[in-house]
Amino acid sequence: MKPVHVLSVAAEIYPLIKTGGLADVAGALPTALARHGVRMVTLVPGYPAVLAALEGGKPVAHIDSLGGGAATLRGGRAAGLDLLVLDAPHLYDRPGNPYLGPDGRDWPDNGARFAALAQVAAMIGGGLVPRYRPAVIHAHDWQAALVPAYRHYAGADAPPVVLTIHNLAFQGRFPRDLLGAIGLPDAAFTLDGVEYYGEIGYLKAGILFADAITTVSPTYATEIASETGGMGLGGLLAGRGDDLAGILNGIDTEVWNPATDALLPRRYDAGDPCARATNKAALQAAFGLEPLPDAPLFGVVSRLSEQKGLDLLLGALPDLCAAGAQLALIGTGEAWLEDGFRTAAARHPGQVSCRIAYDEATAHLVQAGCDALLVPSRFEPCGLTQLCALRYGAVPVVARTGGLADTVVDANEAAVRAGAATGFVFTPIDPSGFAAVIRRVLAGYRDVPAWQAMQRAGMRADVSWDRPAQDYAALYRRLAERRRDA
Ligand code: ADP
Ligand code: GLC
Repeated sequence: MKPVHVLSVAAEIYPLIKTGGLADVAGALPTALARHGVRMVTLVPGYPAVLAALEGGKPVAHIDSLGGGAATLRGGRAAGLDLLVLDAPHLYDRPGNPYLGPDGRDWPDNGARFAALAQVAAMIGGGLVPRYRPAVIHAHDWQAALVPAYRHYAGADAPPVVLTIHNLAFQGRFPRDLLGAIGLPDAAFTLDGVEYYGEIGYLKAGILFADAITTVSPTYATEIASETGGMGLGGLLAGRGDDLAGILNGIDTEVWNPATDALLPRRYDAGDPCARATNKAALQAAFGLEPLPDAPLFGVVSRLSEQKGLDLLLGALPDLCAAGAQLALIGTGEAWLEDGFRTAAARHPGQVSCRIAYDEATAHLVQAGCDALLVPSRFEPCGLTQLCALRYGAVPVVARTGGLADTVVDANEAAVRAGAATGFVFTPIDPSGFAAVIRRVLAGYRDVPAWQAMQRAGMRADVSWDRPAQDYAALYRRLAERRRDA
């Protein structure tokens, strides 16, 4: 089979720069796809962390004027990834979080910064880099969503574009007066162009002009193509019909492998989930929780935002503590939630402990040591932490929404009898639904054989990229062939 060359375009990529699951996906896909005949090169902004890691980095193209300055495109490798790095210091030479300034707010020029990324991707599609012509461009989220719009308005013979929506809540809306500065014609500012509620809608434009749209789970694909789940874009998404599909995320099963994970005090596999006891004790010690081997220990690894529903957990903490359970949380995000968890930890010393931080090593320890991982999201396009939990023998407790609904088999009577249950799935996503599922979990935890069966079923579940990579590869080939036939 001839390899298909795909240019992936992403504002984050693990392990170089990450704020969430988008980085994990962008970082894992190239390796997973290589096994399916796809050669993926990823275009990323030249943040300091990316440039510092780049080996080679020789200039492959120069752009005199891009978003108010000159830019150099550098080709090279970093962390095993083939990259094209957009070295444009006036746009990206800013340390830390890729979107936020030191005041914790969005950089005021984010509209220009990510339009430039998309514009350069479209230029690469049009032949900017000598001897490199991708057959397909894969654009991730609003930051890259203008790629097909640039192609459309340039009228060039450029490759087909797949747009993946990782989270419809982030739509990239910017003022109309940016249009000229980002190199789009005035004529683009119409309802069947980039206009969206009086502004420029990056994701809106992507949805309109992409050749195919994917999102990160089948259930989320259905949810977003509707009035209720569409966040203003439901009609447009529904209008794309079969061009919209859900392809479930996987996780990197080498980064997340309890049998080889160097970050764990004790490594283990599905044959011996009881070996997790050592990790549970280490987690309790690290978090200053009482060293009680039999106390049900809940874990959370999450951004702290409205989306993640963790205020439901805050409300349930008194009951949880009264039942003798413990909580170890690692997360950062919105101040009201950070404060809420700090206060809760102070109120329940030894029983509730929160690390307001972003730390990969602690995330691994939580997954390896907690009994049940909580993901009570109000909506969740896919969710990766419940997949890590499955692989690590932490029983996931998730809301019935998006990818959570697609990846966890609820411990109902039939599933338990069939040995298929892997966790707990709850609805309604409100205080009553959450309180009820916590009661079910606490009861389930006391039934040791059933609990262990659930752990083993979870650890055997396929959470790898194998299947999704096949689906992406098939999609790229379809699009590439369609173009050849046209
Ligand atoms: P989202 O992208 O919406 O934040 P996902 O579940 O898809 O949610 O991905 C989150 C990723 O970020 C996972 O890899 C998770 O382990 C990681 N993560 C989230 N918060 C933290 C944290 N505080 N410390 C370490 N890793 C975190
Ligand atoms: C987004 C979503 C999350 C998904 C991730 C990777 O951040 O919130 O559900 O897993 O992207 O696709």
